[in-house]
Amino acid sequence: MIDRVFYDADGELLIVPQQGAHRFVTEMGVIEAQPGHVVLIPRGVRFRVEIDGPVRGYVCENYGGPFRLPDLGPIGANGLANPRDFETPVAAFEDVDRPTQCVQKYGGRLWATTFAHSPLDVVAWHGNLAPCRYDTARFNTINTVSYDHPDPSIFTVLTSPSETPGTANIDFVIFPPRWMVAEHTFRPPWFHRNVMSEFMGLVTGAYDAKAGGFAPGGASLHNRMSGHGPDQASYEGAIQAELKPHKITDTLAFMFETRAPIRVTKWASESPQMQLDYDDVWSGFAKGQVK
Ligand SMILES: [Fe+2]
Repeated sequence: MIDRVFYDADGELLIVPQQGAHRFVTEMGVIEAQPGHVVLIPRGVRFRVEIDGPVRGYVCENYGGPFRLPDLGPIGANGLANPRDFETPVAAFEDVDRPTQCVQKYGGRLWATTFAHSPLDVVAWHGNLAPCRYDTARFNTINTVSYDHPDPSIFTVLTSPSETPGTANIDFVIFPPRWMVAEHTFRPPWFHRNVMSEFMGLVTGAYDAKAGGFAPGGASLHNRMSGHGPDQASYEGAIQAELKPHKITDTLAFMFETRAPIRVTKWASESPQMQLDYDDVWSGFAKGQVK
């Protein structure tokens, strides 16, 4: 993005870098981000992304209420993502009198105009609607220490709630490195159907419910009431595993989970990477009983 900036008037942007270093030069300062970080750009904030080599990532465009921390309920005052770990940039500006294209997303379309100068010339700012960065390594993961498999909402980093509790406009959920200690339990995620649509991505490593086909940089989509769960290899491994404490390391999966249906773009549906045989991961299960 040379001599070009962008802003989204339709929604805020939650950006999940998956590969390479990203440098977000915003009206309010500079945010350096790399895989493991997430960056939140509020609706309307102008920015440029600078890169050095190949980069890749995921973006959630949230049209609803702004992302905020979830209510913690009985967890109490601290836990999950803590407010202190959301880093806002130090004010910075550039004084560039060169034609700069400003692209905005408005009403689902892209519009462009050209300024005679860079609009990233805000010398200082005051307020609390600012871009920020969060390091997922700072997430205080909470999970069972007895038995059973809590709902993945326990891994919520940020939520845009709806008026109906339990059915968010969108939740951002991560599956970071963590200890698995549950006894008498099938530890991978359950087989289930639910009202929420689940878009998953993988920043690094492997996800504990997918033995294959879900590579870093890839994505899976289980829309509302689509049955899903571990693939057969993950299932077989889980029912045979000794249930001793086990640490899941070197992984970061995440989920954008929304009560809205997620529509697949023409580009995605025609991509050679589309797994048209995806259902086959559940075709080999024998009749039996989970131990
Ligand atoms: Fe699910």
